[in-house]
Amino acid sequence: MSKRILILLGHPDCRPERFGAALASAYADAATAAGHDVRRIDLADIETPFLAGQWEFDSPPPPHIQAVQQDILWANHIVLLFPLWLGATPAKLKALLEQVFRDGFGMETSPRGPVARLKGRSVRLIVTMGMPAIAFWLLFGAHGLLAVEKGILGLAGMTPIRKTVIGAVESIGGRGRLKWLARMRRFGTLGV
Ligand SMILES: Cc1cc2nc3c(=O)[nH]c(=O)nc-3n(C[C@H](O)[C@H](O)[C@H](O)COP(=O)(O)O)c2cc1C
Repeated sequence: MSKRILILLGHPDCRPERFGAALASAYADAATAAGHDVRRIDLADIETPFLAGQWEFDSPPPPHIQAVQQDILWANHIVLLFPLWLGATPAKLKALLEQVFRDGFGMETSPRGPVARLKGRSVRLIVTMGMPAIAFWLLFGAHGLLAVEKGILGLAGMTPIRKTVIGAVESIGGRGRLKWLARMRRFGTLGV
């Protein structure tokens, strides 16, 4: 069944030599070829101010951020790729997420507790990093990834959230990278 897939490349630097850009393109090309409807947003192209406070978080974001919200509402599968920077998402990606989730976009509070507003959407989270993946899981508890999974997307009701950790990107060499690109194409073809 064909899906509406939004690919968000959460890398402040989207030059083609960055591995994240190649991963996103591999996924997008395969998904399009398989008949999925694909949209792509590159963080590097988006002006992303830092959120100034609760008052701003409670109000609607500017029009270009509302356009990102519309793309999320359109999608039934979201692919979010980012490099691990100092153990977490790059600050610019966190800033974008804070902007996008303004005005109760992902969750609103009701007298009976929080209400998730983005149910019906699956996610593939892909994170690249310099350290081996096993170190990220065992030594760091994958907290930079779990913060996005549980603290943002999960609270908004997105499920299932599948995770791909690509470790040692600087040392896996050309063959290692080709293996990951092939895996991205498989994910893209299946829309998972
Ligand atoms: C500012 C910065 C901080 C980084 N912090 C980490 C880190 O905390 N842990 C880690 O394993 N790699 C870290 N790295 C390495 C990047 O995660 C790695 O270079 C990136 O995932 C490679 O993908 P790219 O080619 O798309 O940039 C850091 C890189 C930069 C530029």
